[in-house]
Amino acid sequence: MFTQTQIGGLLHQAHMATIESLQQLEEFIGARGIPAIDDGVRKFLDRFARTMREEVELHFGFEENHLFPVFLSLGESGIVTMLTHEHRSILPLAIQVADLAQAAAAAGSFGEDSWREFRDAGAELIEREIFHVQKEEMGLLAAISSLVDPQTDASLAETYRKLQG
Ligand SMILES: [Fe+2]
Ligand SMILES: [Fe+2]
Repeated sequence: MFTQTQIGGLLHQAHMATIESLQQLEEFIGARGIPAIDDGVRKFLDRFARTMREEVELHFGFEENHLFPVFLSLGESGIVTMLTHEHRSILPLAIQVADLAQAAAAAGSFGEDSWREFRDAGAELIEREIFHVQKEEMGLLAAISSLVDPQTDASLAETYRKLQG
């Protein structure tokens, strides 16, 4: 194990929230037949869409615009290239799944086509995103704790908290 940094702790919390949402999605798309959208399901779909957007817009944005430049300045470009590449493959998919969730919630039901599209894109998103989060939990947080000095850590944590609002 490695020593926890402030920014590592914040990223970890966000990763756990993402995994939880993806597990809920997995359960939801595992349903037999097309689920009806009652009040509870509508709330779930809206909440899920919000979490996914936050993950790829705020969280990915922070990593790419604030954290990765620190790694690049330390000459650690390998991890940055790999994770940025994964972000590029996850972001459009996450937005697509969030859009489909919100469209179904607004329409009050899934049709056969929209359900199939949501289920397939959702399953692909779960696979890519969980793999990415696991990689960051193992590699990125350890790299932060061994490479980022306490002052930079504090300023990254402050930036992240501000972005979270
Ligand atoms: Fe992350
Ligand atoms: Fe990431």
